[in-house]
Amino acid sequence: MPRLRVGVLISGRGSNLQALIEAAAEPHYPAEIVAVISNRADAQGLQRAASSGVPRHVIANPDRAAFATAADGVLRDARVELVALAGFMRILDTGFVERWGDRMINIHPSLLPSFPGLHPQRQALAAGVKFSGCTVHFVRVAVDTGPIIAQAVVPVENGDDEDRLAARILAAEHRLYPLSVRLFAEGRLSIDGNRVVIAGAAAPSAALLNPAER
Ligand code: GRF
Repeated sequence: MPRLRVGVLISGRGSNLQALIEAAAEPHYPAEIVAVISNRADAQGLQRAASSGVPRHVIANPDRAAFATAADGVLRDARVELVALAGFMRILDTGFVERWGDRMINIHPSLLPSFPGLHPQRQALAAGVKFSGCTVHFVRVAVDTGPIIAQAVVPVENGDDEDRLAARILAAEHRLYPLSVRLFAEGRLSIDGNRVVIAGAAAPSAALLNPAER
């Protein structure tokens, strides 16, 4: 069976990209990473793509519309069917989001709709929540909004600082993103308004990682 063709947009470290590349290396994983686009030439994720033989592209154009046109071209040439934003730190052109919206997903290190935007782990600590986590969602024009596909819950522990909490959430991200791409690739996701229905799953079992389970 042909595997889903995924394009990943990054700006930096690329650890989520790495998690997707590793998942795709499994023989039965239903998706493959066919293109990586970075808006920064120095993104560490580009090296990860190179070491895995994934075609990589730098589109550093600061103009939003020009970036979108170039990215569209790369994604189409690579016959991409799903775009995964993985630490992509630029606001995308509205037309680009509208074109790809139901075929474009993002991962954010909080339980959305809590703590959108920058420094979500710092926001979680400031709010004093006992749990935070991460969210994979379809992308809509407003930043960090869109129908939620899956979430992982992570405890906030005594003595956490931003880095410790971020590291604990990141470990969950590396499990949640490949799971979400798998659900998409298996054709199990349908969008109903602001909700995502997962076929064959008694929600939230397929969409939630239990912090008690290591
Ligand atoms: C992750 O925490 C992701 O949720 C957020 O940016 C970070 C990117 O990390 N959107 P990496 O580049 O995947 O290592």
